[in-house]
Amino acid sequence: MSVVISEACCTGCRLCEMVCPAKAIRVENKKAVVTNSRCISCGHCAAACHAGAVVSETDTPKAFIVHEPTGSPVECILQGKRSVREFLADAVPREVLEELVRYGEMAPSSRNTRGRKYYIVTGDRVTELEREVIRGLNRKVGSVKLFLPLLKIFNRKKAESLTSLGRLFASMQNAYDEGRHPVLCGAPAVICIASPVSNLQGKDDCVCSEQYLMLYAESIGLASCINGFTQIAHKEAEAYLGVDADYRIEAAVMLGYPKYLYRKYVEYKRDIVWKE
Ligand SMILES: Cc1cc2nc3c(=O)[nH]c(=O)nc-3n(C[C@H](O)[C@H](O)[C@H](O)COP(=O)(O)O)c2cc1C
Repeated sequence: MSVVISEACCTGCRLCEMVCPAKAIRVENKKAVVTNSRCISCGHCAAACHAGAVVSETDTPKAFIVHEPTGSPVECILQGKRSVREFLADAVPREVLEELVRYGEMAPSSRNTRGRKYYIVTGDRVTELEREVIRGLNRKVGSVKLFLPLLKIFNRKKAESLTSLGRLFASMQNAYDEGRHPVLCGAPAVICIASPVSNLQGKDDCVCSEQYLMLYAESIGLASCINGFTQIAHKEAEAYLGVDADYRIEAAVMLGYPKYLYRKYVEYKRDIVWKE
């Protein structure tokens, strides 16, 4: 096990269960129980637990320490920022989304000219974008299915990983068809950031901007989470959003008001190599 939950402190509030991306925690009889084999030691449960009931086992490679965020406002934002995938239904006002882009565009860019484009998607359009992204993910895996038997012979690991991705994407399609939102998580807004295809460092430019706008979002109480799937299925997203042919979506962020707040700072072990 990588995390330990104190029975005495646990209030059974279910926050840890909600935030666990590995679905390793469930609450039974008002107490949280961890499934050891599933825990990935990400610390979401510890950061979310208001009662401070979750701690890390100390002698694992992924051990972490739990603190209250402290220091300057900037330090607190950096310590408290977590990926949020549960949003209130409230829309994010247009002027707030424009302000996010203003801060995103303050981020450095490789060509000095900040040639990024922003696509702001809101309301039902997010669900439509999600439909296209899921279609794109399944198309990507579908196009290599024919070669799977051959790949199994030459690169078994890759073949297995593609097969499990195929299953994941098919389950996303099913969830979407049932009215759930497995990719964009019901976020009221998504911002996709594109850069010119000709820019060899376009992805870096977009990721820099994404991080600036996510931190600004955090500072005004808006939650966010990177959406890598939209970037993977960028062709479908670009077609849906009408992105210019010479631009490519390199980053996408889900945004909205959070259903819960992370109260604690989870400090991970740092892997540093000095060469002095
Ligand atoms: C490149 C990248 C792609 C990601 N893509 C997704 C995604 O598609 N969906 C999602 O829910 N989270 C995505 N995330 C968020 C991570 O899952 C998240 O950072 C991780 O759960 C750790 O949580 P934390 O950011 O609160 O530390 C992505 C993160 C990165 C860096």
